[in-house]
Amino acid sequence: MNPPPIVIFGTSGLSAYSIENIIDRLNESNQIAIDTAPNYVSAEIAIGNKIQRLINEGFKREDIFIQTKIDWQDIIKVGTQTAIKNSLKRLKIDYIDSLLLHWPFPDIFIKAYKEMEHSYKVGIAREIGVCNFKLRHFEMLLNDGISVKPMINQIEIHPFNTCSDIVKWCNEQEIQVQAYTPLLKMLPKVSENSTLVTLAKKYEASIPQIIYAWNKSRNIIPVTKTSNPKRIDEIFKAFEITIKEEDLTRISSLNEDYKFMLESWGCPGY
Ligand SMILES: NC(=O)c1ccc[n+]([C@@H]2O[C@H](COP(=O)([O-])OP(=O)(O)OC[C@H]3O[C@@H](n4cnc5c(N)ncnc54)[C@H](OP(=O)(O)O)[C@@H]3O)[C@@H](O)[C@H]2O)c1
Repeated sequence: MNPPPIVIFGTSGLSAYSIENIIDRLNESNQIAIDTAPNYVSAEIAIGNKIQRLINEGFKREDIFIQTKIDWQDIIKVGTQTAIKNSLKRLKIDYIDSLLLHWPFPDIFIKAYKEMEHSYKVGIAREIGVCNFKLRHFEMLLNDGISVKPMINQIEIHPFNTCSDIVKWCNEQEIQVQAYTPLLKMLPKVSENSTLVTLAKKYEASIPQIIYAWNKSRNIIPVTKTSNPKRIDEIFKAFEITIKEEDLTRISSLNEDYKFMLESWGCPGY
């Protein structure tokens, strides 16, 4: 089995053209790791078309990491098993490297997760996990007789939302944490922050590189996004940077529990 990717590239809101360009550039780096979801418009279809072309050209399926998710609309409308089959069809693959439950949808998330367990057991999903789970959601799941513990928790993490409690708990449980929106979309809050600007100068790096390196120090895999293939080299080089302990603490101390994504998108009040 291949080692887990050091960084995963998101596809929400990207055009098919951008997705193709990014995968081409990742192909040159030999590290194709993609995050998608059925509700990212037609991203799964664009990824499937591109991956099929690469495989036809001799690229090995096992060298491509594809992560997709289960959405509540699909759980309700077609059921979890059919939702997984539909993703496989769109992605033109016969197994998913990592299958995540998109949100802890009230009333239906435990049943949906148990169906994901089945996909794991029959090899359709090589890893299964969750997104946007807090400790209370894990407690509900773990107390409901599941047989495969989630392997991944994908949550919003950046220097202004460090999620230290849930990260610590997941590390203790050997649940791999993935950070979505790791750059907080490079909003001015990030790009103009004096601590991050100072550290970028100190390490002769960009602010995104500082943030990716900080994630690595916390054993977190960033799920970032770019429409610009020219940024890919910069992103991979970030993982060669070692930030001193006192500077890691400075970054973590920027935390103010600031979230870009609504607390309970898709599951209001939860
Ligand atoms: N599980 C969930 O509920 C959930 C929720 C949200 C997101 N996600 C996943 O996480 C992925 C990433 O989310 P995100 O887009 O919010 O991530 P992000 O990495 O915080 O932000 C990406 C944005 O930052 C810009 N950027 C990247 N590098 C830059 C640089 N060096 N200088 C200036 N701007 C830069 C990109 O613009 P350019 O295109 O110009 O590079 C892009 O618009 C999504 O695509 C999705 O796959 C999951």
